[in-house]
Amino acid sequence: MKSSIRTALILVMFASASWAAAPLPTVTVYKSPSCGCCGKWVEHMKANGFPVVTHETNDITPHKQRLGVPTAMGSCHTAEVNGYLVEGHVPAADVKRLLAEKPNAKGLVSPGMPQSAPGMDDLRKIPYDILLVGNDGRISTYARH
Ligand code: CU
Ligand code: CU
Repeated sequence: MKSSIRTALILVMFASASWAAAPLPTVTVYKSPSCGCCGKWVEHMKANGFPVVTHETNDITPHKQRLGVPTAMGSCHTAEVNGYLVEGHVPAADVKRLLAEKPNAKGLVSPGMPQSAPGMDDLRKIPYDILLVGNDGRISTYARH
């Protein structure tokens, strides 16, 4: 084998290996200092490999407005990852899918406080939906749990 071809092969192998090990982007979270379920959602995201930076604040509203949380679809905490909105108790798997699919959208919302969502952890498996908010404001179902 010519050495140039071997070098190219090694580079391809190295590139694919480093792609597989690519670290997840940091999730920036805005939450009230006294909210317990927000902290549990942060732990859920960390347990699924996300680096998390938490900002404790009693006024999350400006961040909800900046990131485009639809009216009456807010939750207890607001997060941002790679420019996407992640509102409330969204499962880490849905966030990973969002980052892989890169839809033309503001991001995901989990309105209110779904009782069986990560960080709430009601074991009765009460169904809830994760919604995608498009850049045009259109809302569609992204995942059913
Ligand atoms: Cu909560
Ligand atoms: Cu919360």
